[in-house]
Amino acid sequence: MNSPSTLVQGLLARRSPGHSLEQPFYTSDEVYNYDLQNIFYKEWLYCIPACQLKKAGSFVTIKVGAYNVIIVRGNDGEVRAFHNSCRHRGSEVCKAREGQAAKLVCSYHQWTYDFDGKLVWANSMGPGFEARQHGLRPVHLRNLAGLVYICLADKPPDFEAFAKAAQPYLAVHDLSDAKVAHSSTIIEKGNWKLVWENNRECYHCAGNHPALCRSFSLDPEVAGVVTDAGVSPNLQAHFDACEAAGAPAAWNMDQAGQYRIARMPLQKGVVSYTMDGKAAASKPLGRVAKPDAGTLMLFHYPSTWNHFLPDHSLTFRVLPISPTETEVTTTWLVHKDAKEGVDYDMKRLTEVWLDTNDEDREIVETNQRGILSPAYTPGPYSPSVEDGVVQFVDWYVQWLARHSSPVPMAAE
Ligand code: FES
Ligand SMILES: [Fe+2]
Repeated sequence: MNSPSTLVQGLLARRSPGHSLEQPFYTSDEVYNYDLQNIFYKEWLYCIPACQLKKAGSFVTIKVGAYNVIIVRGNDGEVRAFHNSCRHRGSEVCKAREGQAAKLVCSYHQWTYDFDGKLVWANSMGPGFEARQHGLRPVHLRNLAGLVYICLADKPPDFEAFAKAAQPYLAVHDLSDAKVAHSSTIIEKGNWKLVWENNRECYHCAGNHPALCRSFSLDPEVAGVVTDAGVSPNLQAHFDACEAAGAPAAWNMDQAGQYRIARMPLQKGVVSYTMDGKAAASKPLGRVAKPDAGTLMLFHYPSTWNHFLPDHSLTFRVLPISPTETEVTTTWLVHKDAKEGVDYDMKRLTEVWLDTNDEDREIVETNQRGILSPAYTPGPYSPSVEDGVVQFVDWYVQWLARHSSPVPMAAE
């Protein structure tokens, strides 16, 4: 059998640009492990909004492939990440997906760690035992304007260029003043790249998203990429109006294609993702003075897309579970002082994207089932309304080609 790297390199070499990928990219264990090794284990990954960790000892655990990571707020207010593997005999230290701890205590033999990872208690380990040598192993973490990213690589790739680009756009949304109003995690029975491909076009929206289409613009420029002709005059006028109101808006696309940031208009007269187009929260999160500024759309491959609106914000996290399963977590953020039932109604706040996510899950699962057929062959993307998908797939194959290394299969 081919080694995984030979298989992937062969598939990359004969790929048809402008077409969906060959079947193994969406189905095979080899490619899946290759994606983990070369993308998810190497890149910066969005995890949670920092406000989800309300106080010292608040933690979440996140699985990325074979890794399990604890993200915890310390007594000094800092958010840190550690591998969730006890330095005694390797047990998971935190078993819950989310919780509040007085200390991080391993349930096996009660080795006890502080929120900064230091081992502070271990019984009967003998006089020569060096507690200092047995702290939890740290994971690289960055808090970008209230959005927590981690990187599993020993030497993370640069984060500064993205952080510098995104910071001014995010600053006006005051995510440090946010609280989590609602969070939803779904498993889509589809490869993680199908989740992204579906996200990067709205060709499917009119036929599948009746609720979202009340607010989201179907203009292909919103999901697409800038062509040589540049931004359309209408979109430029929107950017200018937002920027005049103090909300950075103009299109910012990473040269390598990993991220894009732009404040995009919603449907005319619409200010938020609600069924009637009116605001979902009367106490706004952030300082966007222009109610119809639309949605600050930020994607960062491979793990997140986001919508930051004048009244509330939404983050989405994408994590692969298996070659044909992907976890998608959506988090609705409102102002920390906003009261449910007074300043926002939960149903009104969440219904558009709960419906949309479920519709997208159905689309992705149906796409995956069709691709599992031996009769599947790659088909052409539309150059006018699927240029965002082309951009994603080009990023993926270029990233794999650039970052791939013939690593042995890990024990995923
Ligand atoms: S494995 Fe954690 S205390 Fe023993
Ligand atoms: Fe969709």
